[in-house]
Amino acid sequence: MSLLFLSTSVAFVWINSTKKKYFPVQLQLQLQSPTLGYAVSMVLSCPYPPFMSEDVVRELQVQHKLQKSDIVIATYPKCGTTWAQQIVLEALNCHENIEAPTKCPWKASTWPEMSLSCSARKAKISGAKAVFDYCKSCDSDKVRVLKTHAPHHLRPWNAESGNSGRVIVVTRNPFDAAVSMFHHACDNEVFQYDGRAQGGVDSFCENLWMEGKCESGDFWEWHASWRREYEKKFSKKRILWILYENLTRDPLGEVRKIVQFLELNVSEKEVNKIVGRSSFSTMKQNFSENDAERAKKGEKIKKNHIRKGGVGGFQSIISAQVLHKFKQLHTENCRRLDLNLELFPT
Ligand code: A3P
Repeated sequence: MSLLFLSTSVAFVWINSTKKKYFPVQLQLQLQSPTLGYAVSMVLSCPYPPFMSEDVVRELQVQHKLQKSDIVIATYPKCGTTWAQQIVLEALNCHENIEAPTKCPWKASTWPEMSLSCSARKAKISGAKAVFDYCKSCDSDKVRVLKTHAPHHLRPWNAESGNSGRVIVVTRNPFDAAVSMFHHACDNEVFQYDGRAQGGVDSFCENLWMEGKCESGDFWEWHASWRREYEKKFSKKRILWILYENLTRDPLGEVRKIVQFLELNVSEKEVNKIVGRSSFSTMKQNFSENDAERAKKGEKIKKNHIRKGGVGGFQSIISAQVLHKFKQLHTENCRRLDLNLELFPT
């Protein structure tokens, strides 16, 4: 594997709370391909987006306790995270007389690894201090909806509190997920990847995604890590496994599953409301309005997050030659890691 150190930035280590002394440490970003680019931050040997701090992830695993009322959406990136966030937030709000759907599910549902990495850097404090402050400020009476893209062993909470809270894992077939990630990487300048000018989707799949070099690492290892947890005795009450494809084909049925899992008292009329408020068209409209408002204020936006959606779009995008290799790899990895192929319908 070719490693190329890109740049360094200064972070500060929290030494102890009485002395309040900070020492700078070097963070190194890594380019996953010397020719294609694609920058990541290596966090405990797993590629994360470049803004992530290993210090924060490590501290979350020590200090952060999951609470009984917490709801976590755990996904490999591009498998339907935002959709699940919207559904859960709408389900929690559906008794309230709120006129419009949640416009920005990202604001109402935190990604602790990201928000604390960014806030620690901005405030020039260590990960330990940022996580300490966050944990202190969490209101235990409030239901938190969190998201993570971490493989199970890097989940952002202390393992001893792991039996509290509920986790919804959303998965998607690897081919559509890879195409979605390609656009995400091109549209998000932090990755320093201009794939549309360099090799396109095929090259991205072969040289980055299928190699496990993209954010969150290897797709199959990621799913095997959560699946092992799901298969454990008594886990079904704590972990719900949802397929993006089922959500697309039968949103009413899948939303019913989610509200039952969360033990929410929701009527059939409210289930319909949740489905409407989390539909592709509603979310696309809300995101573009939100992006326009933020752009007006001069804030940075990532366009096109609610991009195309659907199942099977990859068929006309990935070349037959690459798709053949990709499908072989998928079958081999599923066999090797004991993942049922039916978890990834196309
Ligand atoms: P595409 O890029 O294939 O369009 P994530 O939120 O995990 O980053 O996933 C993003 C993917 O989910 C994008 O896929 C996006 O369009 C799709 N998506 C988001 N909301 C959706 C919805 N309500 N219905 C269907 N797909 C949705």
